[in-house]
This record gives sequence, C-alpha cells and structure tokens, in this order.
Amino acid sequence: MTDVPEINVPALVAVARKARLNAHAPYSKFQVGAAVLDERGTVSVGCNMENAAYPLGTCAEAVALGAMVASGGKKARTIVIVAGGERLITPCGGCRQRIAELAGPDTIVYCASDTGDTIENMRVEELLPNSFRL
Ligand code: THU
Repeated sequence: MTDVPEINVPALVAVARKARLNAHAPYSKFQVGAAVLDERGTVSVGCNMENAAYPLGTCAEAVALGAMVASGGKKARTIVIVAGGERLITPCGGCRQRIAELAGPDTIVYCASDTGDTIENMRVEELLPNSFRL
C-alpha cells in the first residue's frame, strides 16, 4: 500500500465500472472492469471476456492493456481494476506479469469496489517482485 497523489483516479474508476458492465462472463458470472491511463494521457478500458473453451478466457486487465497497445500506447501510468459489489480484487498472476511488462515498478494499481468508496492501491513491484524480464 502506498499513499500517492494521483491523476484523476475517480474518473478512471468510473470508466472501469462502466466497462465492467460489458463483461462477457456467462460461465463465472464474475464481471471485472479495468482502466489504464497511459503516457499519452489516453485511457483504455477492458472487461473480462470468457469462452466456452474455458482456458481461452481473458481477464479485464489483459483486454485493457491490449487496447492500450493497439491504440499506440507504450506505457501504463495508472491502472484501475473493479470487481462487483463491495469486493476488491487484485490482478491474477498472469496479469501481474502483463502489467509488469507494460508499466513501471512504481506504477500504481488501484483496486476499487464497484459500490461504495473502498479503494486500495499498490505498486507494480509490490504485486510482482523480481518479475521476469528478457
Ligand atoms: N478476472 C479478471 O478479469 N481479472 C482478474 O484480476 C481476476 C479474474 C476474471 C477472469 C474470469 O473471467 C473471472 O474473472 C473469474 O475468474
């Protein structure tokens, strides 16, 4: 946990909450939304996208980072993840590696509730210490 004065986090939470509503999660029924602010100031959003062939499902963070890259973004500056209700979730192991690839060690990941104002933040280096890099 770090206390950081950040960009417009409430606005990022709002767009992540909105993206969450588009989640394709008929199997788990667990909808997740994500928002990524990049070095250009552009915000990309994502939601989880499941598949009947279960392992093909994609996390909200992966979709948001893919949208960032596809639109020309190079570096995630701030990331927000939203699950349902009051619950806070942190990124899965695979997404921690994806985030480490496209963010910096000090990039802040905010985990926000969908309802209410609960929010926690952590640095990428805290989420995935000593990450693999080529
Ligand atoms: N999921 C995400 O989208 N992000 C996470 O950080 C954790 C899990 C999705 C994957 C799957 O569609 C559903 O949540 C249940 O695991």
